[in-house]
Amino acid sequence: MSQQSSNKQLSNNDLIAMKTRGEKITSLTAYDASFAHILDNAGVDMVLVGDSLGMVVQGQSSTIPVTVEEMAYHSKLVSRGLKRALLVTDLPFMSYPTPNEAVKNAGILMQQGYAHMVKLEGGQKVLDSVKLIVEQGIPVCGHLGLLPQSVNQIGGYRVQGKDEAQAKIIIEDAKCLEQAGASAVVVECVPASLGKRISEAVNIPVIGIGAGVDCDGQVLVCYDMLDITAGMRPKFSKNFMLEAGSVANAVSAYVDAVKKQQFPAAEHTFK
Ligand code: KIV
Repeated sequence: MSQQSSNKQLSNNDLIAMKTRGEKITSLTAYDASFAHILDNAGVDMVLVGDSLGMVVQGQSSTIPVTVEEMAYHSKLVSRGLKRALLVTDLPFMSYPTPNEAVKNAGILMQQGYAHMVKLEGGQKVLDSVKLIVEQGIPVCGHLGLLPQSVNQIGGYRVQGKDEAQAKIIIEDAKCLEQAGASAVVVECVPASLGKRISEAVNIPVIGIGAGVDCDGQVLVCYDMLDITAGMRPKFSKNFMLEAGSVANAVSAYVDAVKKQQFPAAEHTFK
């Protein structure tokens, strides 16, 4: 369905250009070369090696136990399956407590994991780390809204930014990340109206997960949308396997639905 005619490697600037011309950016997680190949072939623009691998691959109850070495290993596997997609790899919990440690670990994900960009969670608190990583020539993706690495502080996986004071902080955080040099930002589990406001507030792409259809792009955990995490699928995800018949068809259906702004629909969205 969505197989790309060009295999040219996408860059952070290509994603920014997609936002500028109003083309929705498609993203899914992958943790190995076989899935990465299917995603790449279906035209997924950004493949994320998320620390969600701690939950969906390792069977742990949160992302907190995941290590830099594990992220680098899975990132290396995923890189072997990609030709076109931008490879973004998560800096896991406690791998960026100081800017110097952030740079060191971002370097490991680039050199050993072949990442094109690293992602880290937080706003104001991580700005110095973002600046230092960017100064080394490493593109950075922020992550705002629900921060899974802070689940014990937040007290559960809850929708964020529901009141105006919280919403304003998240919008301000997105602007600060852009000013610090971030190339993109993932926004997780916020009301759709806030996803739209954040996307309008910055020039870098805002990739939503449970943040409404008006974000510049969408990301899902691939195991959720393929119904591998049976019975555990979050409200904001959708079972694309239902009518697909194959993993490749399900991924293509997701790419088409995001590009045509048919996903996420109202039932996948928070108010
Ligand atoms: O770890 C992950 O898979 C993520 C996505 C939920 C965006 O960060």
